Amino acid sequence: MARRSLFFFTVLIIFLALSVRSNGQGVGINYGQIANNLPSPARVATLLRSLNISRVKLYDADPNVLFSFSNSPVDFMIGLGNEFLQNMSTDPTKAQNWIQQRLQPHIAKTRITSIVVGNEIFKTNDRVLIENLLPAMKAVYAALVNLGLEKQVAVTSAHSLDILQTSYPPSSGSFKEEFVQFLQPLLDFHSQIKSPFLINAYPFFAYKDSPREVPLEYVLFQPNQGMIDPNTNLHYDNMLFAQVDALYSAIKTLGHTDVEVRISETGWPSKGDENEIGASPENAALYNGNLLRLIQQRKGTPAKQSVPIDVYVFALFNENLKPGPTSERNYGLFYPDGKPVYNVGLQGYLPDIIYSSSAITIKILNLWRAVMGLAVTGWILLDMGGKIWMR
Ligand SMILES: *[C@@H]1O[C@H](CO)[C@@H](O)[C@H](O)[C@H]1NC(C)=O
Ligand SMILES: *[C@@H]1O[C@H](CO)[C@@H](O)[C@H](O)[C@H]1NC(C)=O
Repeated sequence: MARRSLFFFTVLIIFLALSVRSNGQGVGINYGQIANNLPSPARVATLLRSLNISRVKLYDADPNVLFSFSNSPVDFMIGLGNEFLQNMSTDPTKAQNWIQQRLQPHIAKTRITSIVVGNEIFKTNDRVLIENLLPAMKAVYAALVNLGLEKQVAVTSAHSLDILQTSYPPSSGSFKEEFVQFLQPLLDFHSQIKSPFLINAYPFFAYKDSPREVPLEYVLFQPNQGMIDPNTNLHYDNMLFAQVDALYSAIKTLGHTDVEVRISETGWPSKGDENEIGASPENAALYNGNLLRLIQQRKGTPAKQSVPIDVYVFALFNENLKPGPTSERNYGLFYPDGKPVYNVGLQGYLPDIIYSSSAITIKILNLWRAVMGLAVTGWILLDMGGKIWMR
């Protein structure tokens, strides 16, 4: 009997190990913090563990977060903000300093796998920023090489999909003419250091702008007729995959088939202003729920079927201090109290309090003091009793 249950236990363990592996890397999540009501990073670490989410993207290199995820199995993409680009481009030692101050103290305990240098730089239309992006990335890479970390930590940047001039049909994807002179050397660098090209892609924007022309089912990954790319005969039944393949086509026009595209942000708001057609909890649940299913199935896009899509969902929490239209504050899968905004099968656990090791130390000290206090009181009482008895 005992031997048989041991056998079943072993089978169960092997099965669990295999099922975890077959899930591959799973979904990633954007952990944005433009809010004043979010739980502490230590509590978030527990929430993510309960959700089996082990890939997180930060918009900065918040030491508080990186420290709270020490010894956790979570892989981090950390962000190097746009405000640093110019300095790092003109003075590479600034990149060295940033790496030494922001990354090095954590790298032994927290799994930092990439640095995202700048966010949506081309969308800013700021000439200085755009010109400084690649030199800054090169400075960061050189700093990693100096520390022997370039194999462990990838250098990349995240771009808005509107770097594309054409995205339909996907095989005709091309970059905006004015950005090509910057994107060409950027792609050459990605190819040279073998790092992925990141894109923030929101089919929601396309739907919101033309709800009459864009079928809702097509943007929400619901069953629909889809469309056939007339040049390749590939069938597309969702807009996100068409967008990714349009980017692959654009990259190919600049001579590269060796740079992988990953989705650094995508999501759907659960609430919006009156003119933000489509923003609703029902649509957000369909978008993110269907997307999670495709990630689990390790689906590739029609043009890259053997490459499972690699996605960071935007975002973990609703962020109450984000400026802009109502939708901006309502992309979260979770409210700050850990409750799901809608049901996509992600029921997590957000603990009330986390005992950090220092809190436990204080508790033990207090207990020790209490015990010593009792002992001393007892000794005094005994002593007093003795003296009274002696008298
Ligand atoms: C996480 O994985 C474990 C073990 O595979 C499983 O029991 C659990 O249900 C998963 N949790 C979620 C939220 O998917
Ligand atoms: C860039 O360098 C200047 C001059 O050293 C400094 O004053 C400024 O704070 C730096 N900017 C950032 C974002 O670090």
